[in-house]
Parts: sequence; structure tokens; C-alpha cells
Amino acid sequence: MSKKIILAITGASGSLYAVQFLKVMQQAGIETHAVISNAGRLVLQHELGLTADDLQQYVAQWHAADDFAAPMSSGSSRFDAMVVLPCTMGSLGAIANGIAKNLIHRAADVILKEKKPLLLAVRETPLNRIHLENLLKVHDAGAIVCPAMPSFYHHPAGLEEMATFFAGRLADLIGIEVAGLKRWQGK
Ligand SMILES: Cc1cc2nc3c(=O)[nH]c(=O)nc-3n(C[C@H](O)[C@H](O)[C@H](O)COP(=O)(O)O)c2cc1C
Repeated sequence: MSKKIILAITGASGSLYAVQFLKVMQQAGIETHAVISNAGRLVLQHELGLTADDLQQYVAQWHAADDFAAPMSSGSSRFDAMVVLPCTMGSLGAIANGIAKNLIHRAADVILKEKKPLLLAVRETPLNRIHLENLLKVHDAGAIVCPAMPSFYHHPAGLEEMATFFAGRLADLIGIEVAGLKRWQGK
């Protein structure tokens, strides 16, 4: 049976990562349910000139960030994994402390309690003590902290390729096979 996952887009820099991740999931035949915070919409528009509607073709269903009745609010909906990409320090803080102010925080809380993979692609620099403590908290609660850090060793031709490579690493972490991804083969 094909996997069903949640992509949450929050208002950190790096909306391109989310767009490329959606494309990679579509290519892999994954059913992606998406939710975007208000700040996420703002950054998506600012960085890429896109709205959530522009991404509709890659998404099985969009859920409003204030819709606490959405399926992902309950463990009984049985999602296989959740990826917060990119993840702000604000959303990290809410998730780390079990505060469900929006559907993203609630869905992450549910994924953790159901012991399913939760990937947090956090992005901020530098990190203050509160960020660091929250990162450790989510780690200890079972989340996988995967900072949105571009890599250069695969010689990306541009930003899209760089973001796709990172999206592929996230796919690896939730056990999704993506054809054609560049991998390190040794020198
Ligand atoms: C252009 C832009 C870039 C931002 N980049 C970041 C970022 O990289 N990391 C971060 O933690 N917050 C960043 N912020 C601030 C968050 O959007 C803000 O804290 C917001 O309240 C987060 O809400 P959310 O977690 O619900 O999306 C950025 C804001 C803007 C407008």
C-alpha cells in the first residue's frame, strides 16, 4: 500500500525545499497532505512568488492551519510520517513543549504520540539557548532533527537541484524510495 504523509510548511526561509519535496513525493507516488502556516504563506510568496494554490497539483489535500478537525488531528487517521519543511523556531518551540496552537503543532504532537517519524527541517542561525534546548527536547521525544542545510559535494547546478538533493535525504529518512537521486559513490 502506498504511503500517506503530512507536509507542513512554516514561515522559515527555504520554501523552495518544500516545493521540491512535494515534487519528489509526487514522483515517488506518495499521497501528501499539506498544511501551511500564515507565516509560511508569506514566505512562500516572498521567496518564490507562489501561493499554496500554485502547489495544488502536487498535493492530495490542503488543510487549513486552524482546522483542528482535519484528519491529521487524530492518530486514528494513520499517517505514515510528517515532515515540517522548513521549520521555524516558533513551530519548533510549540512542538517541543506540546503546545497545539495550530494544526501543524497538533499533527506533530499526534505523530509523536503514535511513534511515527517526525522530521523537523529547522532553519535559523545562529541558535540561542532556547532553540538548542527545544531541539534536544524534540530529539528526546522521538523527532528527527534535520536542519535545512544545503550540501555542495554533489555539485548542484542550481538552487532547485540543491533543494531536491535535500528533499531526497528527507525521503530516505522516512523510507521512501526516490528514483534518480544523486548519491555519493565514493571518489
Ligand atoms: C522572509 C522571512 C523569513 C523568515 N525566516 C525565518 C527562519 O529562517 N527561521 C525562523 O525561525 N523564523 C523565520 N521567520 C520568522 C517566522 O516566520 C515567524 O517567527 C513566524 O511567527 C513563525 O510562525 P510559524 O512557525 O507558524 O510559521 C521569517 C520570516 C520572514 C518574513
